[in-house]
Amino acid sequence: MNILLTGGLGYIGSHVAVVLTEAGHQVTILDNLCNCKIEVLDRLEKILGKAPAFTKGDIRDQALLESILKQEKIEAVIHFAGLKAVGESVKEPLMYYENNVGGTISLLQAMKNC
Ligand SMILES: NC(=O)c1ccc[n+]([C@@H]2O[C@H](COP(=O)([O-])OP(=O)(O)OC[C@H]3O[C@@H](n4cnc5c(N)ncnc54)[C@H](O)[C@@H]3O)[C@@H](O)[C@H]2O)c1
Repeated sequence: MNILLTGGLGYIGSHVAVVLTEAGHQVTILDNLCNCKIEVLDRLEKILGKAPAFTKGDIRDQALLESILKQEKIEAVIHFAGLKAVGESVKEPLMYYENNVGGTISLLQAMKNC
């Protein structure tokens, strides 16, 4: 299956990328690198023998999402892209709503369109 992992270079997403690839799935990752390092991609390549397809980008960019969904013939999406620091979310609630709620709506809209 062709599977898109949003936030796929983060803690949970990168582990899921390994498990899915080892199970024979084609993994595509979209991450804006706001809370991870690009070196994670090198580590995935070391573990898996080949790096998963990766785009640096934001889930709030609906046009980008639609082009990835079409180009990579994505059949399933697992959505890990989000901000999740409790203290920061209390200090900056609008930033969290915009990223997590707005980003999820953008992703769902792109999936609906495709
Ligand atoms: N870590 C846990 O124990 C845990 C437990 C339950 C649920 N979760 C949830 O799972 C999800 C992932 O958690 P994690 O621990 O892997 O976090 P993480 O911060 O390690 O990974 C999230 C990734 O999403 C990326 N990202 C954030 N906003 C983005 C955006 N707008 N566009 C593109 N990329 C974006 C970040 O760069 C990061 O790589 C979160 O929603 C979190 O709340 C985590």
